[in-house]
Amino acid sequence: MGEEFSVPEGASREERYALAEQQVEAVLKGEMDVIANLANVAAILKQCLDFFWVGFYRRVDGELILGPFQGPLACSRIPITQGVCGAAVRERKTIIVPRVEDFPGHIACSSKSKSEIVIPLVHDREVKYVLDVDSEVEADFSDLDKTHLEKIVSMLKDKYVI
Ligand code: SME
Repeated sequence: MGEEFSVPEGASREERYALAEQQVEAVLKGEMDVIANLANVAAILKQCLDFFWVGFYRRVDGELILGPFQGPLACSRIPITQGVCGAAVRERKTIIVPRVEDFPGHIACSSKSKSEIVIPLVHDREVKYVLDVDSEVEADFSDLDKTHLEKIVSMLKDKYVI
């Protein structure tokens, strides 16, 4: 199980991700429960990166159902035909949206959200979950976030059989 930890003041984004990855590795060790693991990963990302909203949606047939998250209240269900999350499922790839208002079909769970990144967790060629991160800052996500968040999703994927 993971231990309590703190983020050094003034740490760079890269350093924060390094700390997050270390913590994710520690909490996943020896724990196979999907909900416990997704919940702790959301908490680690919130604490390390201070994202506005970070959490998971689980794919059930043609829709995404809200899973463990950190942040304000969010939409419980998203059809896979809609939203940035739906697009990540359909395209089976990470999607970065610099300005959510420019993305056709974006679903605004909060008017404070300005940019977004969604990473799909693919198993047996099917998207089982998506990791969704929202920021209050426009164009907040880059390839650095994509690389590290995809790494964290792959750590989760390696960890359990869905
Ligand atoms: N904005 C997402 C919906 C989920 S919330 O941001 C938590 C979308 O367009 O799929």
